[in-house]
Formats: sequence, structure tokens, C-alpha cells
Amino acid sequence: MDWGMKNRLSRLMPNGHCLWLPIDHGYFQGPTSKLEKPGETVKPLLPYCDAIFVTRGVLRNCIDPDSTKPIILRVSGGTSMIGEDLANEGITTSIKEAIRLNVCAVGLSIFVGSKHEHQTLLNLARLVDEAEEYGIPVMAVTAVGKEMEKREARYLALCCRIAAELGARVVKTYWCENFEKVVEGCPVPVVMAGGPQVGTELEVFEFVYDGMKKGAIGVNLGRNIWKNEHPVAMIKALRSIIHEDATPKEANELFNNLKKGKKK
Ligand code: 5RP
Repeated sequence: MDWGMKNRLSRLMPNGHCLWLPIDHGYFQGPTSKLEKPGETVKPLLPYCDAIFVTRGVLRNCIDPDSTKPIILRVSGGTSMIGEDLANEGITTSIKEAIRLNVCAVGLSIFVGSKHEHQTLLNLARLVDEAEEYGIPVMAVTAVGKEMEKREARYLALCCRIAAELGARVVKTYWCENFEKVVEGCPVPVVMAGGPQVGTELEVFEFVYDGMKKGAIGVNLGRNIWKNEHPVAMIKALRSIIHEDATPKEANELFNNLKKGKKK
């Protein structure tokens, strides 16, 4: 592997694990609640994440260019919540632009099993061809659009394997029951997305812990952090699982202590 590619991957995954913070939701949702001003939302969280996942528009306008935080640039889109089909994505940002923005990786969604499967898989293959030339890793996002019930092991294993076969250096997918089946079938690192906010913080800590034990290298988790009433406590507690091997119970105790101001 070339030096540039290795260097980018190791900055994104210090010690092989990662806590990435996505704030790209506006690319099809518009001003998502708690993300109306992405720069303000992310500011207190930046010290505790390993990278942010963001579009060029938000990066340019809301993130301080003095920041040294690695950037994963969202480069697919072209659809909206109110449009006909969320899966009908194209590549929105060139590799030249990614280089100009000094990013560590680029990320794009694939919609396996949808009407636009072929187009989004070819988007991925083309992006890999272009990004690899400059040592930039591609993260494939196994998107399900509004069909949240698709989040089960057989389907996600299929998506992750196809993404890896087409050249993604890392795949982002959902945690599910029997998650080991997803990881075992995928020859590149797997990171977990969060999805909509779940009931309690403990439930988040439990699925993240389970996924890590089953071979995920970390998370790309947004709403369950920045929609939480105590986002800094939440990200610190998640960090303890991902980078310090804390159990869900320990992470929950840390969260509660931070929330009550008992710990810094
Ligand atoms: C949207 C994305 C988001 O980055 C992804 O969904 C992760 O965020 P969350 O944890 O809020 O689901 O790729 O398509």
C-alpha cells in the first residue's frame, strides 16, 4: 500500500479503531433538528471524534480550516427527502475537489436491491478508480433509504461484501443481530452507523459493544450523539468502548457521571 493511503487510513483509525462523527444528514434531509448549525453542533464534540463525515458545503462554511481533524467527504447525493427515490444518487463531488479540501477519505452510498442498485454500484467502482489514483480511501455506505427493516445480517452481509469487492477500503453498515456474519464475509474493515435515536443510552452502548466484539473497528454514529441531551457525555462514553474497551455498564456509568458533572 502506498504511503499516502496508509497515512490517511492510520489517521482515520488510530490504533485500528475509530469514532467517526457524521454530520452529513442535511445532504438529503435539509436542516435536520440539532444540526441546523452544524458548526456549532460539532464544535464541542470535535476533540473526542477521530474524523467527521461531511459534505463540501458544510465543510467550507461551518468548519474552521485551522482544524486538524481528519475529514471524510460525502461525495454522493442528488436526492431529497421529498423527492421520488432516495436511492437515485450520483457522484456530487470530484476527486480534484476532495484533494483541494485536503480530505482523508471520501464516502458514497450504495443502495443494493433498489431500483438504482446498478447505478450506485457503478458510482462506487468509478469513485474507487479515481480516488485510488491519489491514495484516497473510499468508504462505502450501505444505505437503506426509508426501508429500515432491511437492517438484517443476510442483506447487510451481501451489501458489505459487494462494496469490498468493488474496492471500498472501509464499509459503513448498520449493526444487526448476528453481526458477526456481516463482518466475517467482508474482507475490509466494517464500521457501524447509528440510525435514528434509540430509546436509552445503554441500548446504544450495548449494540456498539456487541458490534466491536464481533469485529467492527468502530462507528460512524451521528444522531445518537448529537441529538442526545448530553452530547459530550455521550461521545466520551462511546469513546471509552471503542478506544478503551469499556463494557456497556462502564460506559453507562461514565455517561451518568459526566451528565451529573461528577467527572470531566
Ligand atoms: C446518511 C449517512 C449518515 O452519515 C449515517 O446515517 C450515520 O449517521 P446516524 O448515526 O445518524 O445514522 O450516511 O446517509
